[in-house]
Amino acid sequence: MMRAGQLMERQDGAPQAQDAQPDDGAFAQDMAAMLAHRPRGISPKYFYDAEGSRLFDRICELPEYYPTRTELGILQQQAGEIAKLAGPRAEIVEFGAGSLLKVRLLLDAFDRPARYLPIDISGDHLADAAALLRRDYAGLDVQPVAADYTRRLLLPAPLPGAGQRVGFFPGSTLGNFTPDEALHFLQVAAQVLGGGALLLGADLVKNPAVLHAAYNDAQGVTAAFNLNLLARANRELGTDFDLAGFAHYAFYNAPQSRIEMHLVSMRRQSVTLAGRAFDWAEGETLHTENSYKFTIDGLRALAVRAGFRPGPVWTDPERLFSVHWLHAP
Ligand code: AVI
Repeated sequence: MMRAGQLMERQDGAPQAQDAQPDDGAFAQDMAAMLAHRPRGISPKYFYDAEGSRLFDRICELPEYYPTRTELGILQQQAGEIAKLAGPRAEIVEFGAGSLLKVRLLLDAFDRPARYLPIDISGDHLADAAALLRRDYAGLDVQPVAADYTRRLLLPAPLPGAGQRVGFFPGSTLGNFTPDEALHFLQVAAQVLGGGALLLGADLVKNPAVLHAAYNDAQGVTAAFNLNLLARANRELGTDFDLAGFAHYAFYNAPQSRIEMHLVSMRRQSVTLAGRAFDWAEGETLHTENSYKFTIDGLRALAVRAGFRPGPVWTDPERLFSVHWLHAP
């Protein structure tokens, strides 16, 4: 999961050797830039403060939000085959420390996994994830890496006697990148996984009505998740967004194969940041997220451009979601 960054020490006490950047100031800077430019837009990484992460966990449980449970089902069903492809003593490198539920499926199925390296920009999240896994998998070497994996990435050298390096990037988080960012991420992954493979979850193009429902749930959790961005700015930056003055708006942009999430200003209004007032016209939008949907062929072609050799692909019976095994060069 993409989260705002902060520096941390590695759990083993060693100073972290990555180029993770502290987030201090980045949210303020990006909010100021967003307010000053039109059309207005900001990175979805700012959704994930503690409240945003809690709301995202609730989204994953919603009846309309099919990706999480569908991907889990695919991983459960294919765990044996995935474990065979991974081979003995594999090192699992997870991009983003997610809910841990998914990686547990791999850890349970793999043949004596040598090490688990979760990479996340949020130190707090990593520390929690690592502690839980160490408790439940006695003997598993868990080495969190605090880094922004969308940038340059340095990983510890493979353990002596370890098998192949298997990258894990579930949840279709790739879809929250721009196409250029997605290609760049895959190139970075291909480099750090050299000789191993990437296990990648990608949401599929489908009936727009299904997509629309997934991002416009009846309980309004996705709306609260979207609006929390403004609440977070009020909490952390002292802005004075009136949350009742903005509406959640999510739609499927079919020509671009992406869900777009926006916050629409319901009236003419003004918002203050650091003593400066910024006007909003009635109907003006703040573009908060893209969530690209893929075809299987399109995803494989993108992976090839990044240097991967596509292997098996698994889907669910309704072809809602896909999980790809991609051989790293
Ligand atoms: C994290 N990411 C893959 C989610 C998605 O579906 O794009 C974020 C999300 N946004 C609204 N609902 C869920």
